[in-house]
Amino acid sequence: MGKRRLAVLISGRGSNMEALARAAQAPDYPAGIVLVASSKAGAAGLETAATLGLPTAVIPARDHPTRDSFDAALTAALESCGTEAIALAGFMRILTPGFIRRWQGRIVNIHPSLLPKYPGLDTHARALEAGDAQGGCTVHIVTETLDDGPILAQTAVPIRAHDTAETLAARVLEAEHRLYPQALAAFLATLP
Ligand code: GRF
Repeated sequence: MGKRRLAVLISGRGSNMEALARAAQAPDYPAGIVLVASSKAGAAGLETAATLGLPTAVIPARDHPTRDSFDAALTAALESCGTEAIALAGFMRILTPGFIRRWQGRIVNIHPSLLPKYPGLDTHARALEAGDAQGGCTVHIVTETLDDGPILAQTAVPIRAHDTAETLAARVLEAEHRLYPQALAAFLATLP
């Protein structure tokens, strides 16, 4: 089977998008990126994507008064480039149930904790506060519940004595960049 048509959704730095894009450059990687779409006009990841020669789109949240209108614009952009699967990579919007149904079983996300621990924000600070011995990251299928949905893969990362939320985040981010391309490839192999 040829490369699946993958869209990556970002809102910021885009380092996971870059990890996916670099993996997808390999001829035998099972996806090619057909669109990098951002909900924020100034997202740094847009520049990275352009440098990598990837098509980009901005769907500014502020142009869309309702979630339904935002998600309809996003679906139109995704459909126009023949998207088959969607990778969320630091995408800071909650998607509507209608959007998730439209792309049922075809959206994956990376989250910086060992889910089901610490859905939502400030995951590293919460792991430190709880005295956990390890943090980590999770790739999962997106369902209507935030940071929930079937887990595809996880990597645990040790927490060290003098870690701050920032040092832990940096260590977990390195693990994210290794995990996401691998987990996505395995997921794509299961798609009809
Ligand atoms: C990552 O830690 C990811 O797990 C979380 O948001 C962060 C995005 O970073 N969902 P980047 O934009 O991929 O650099």
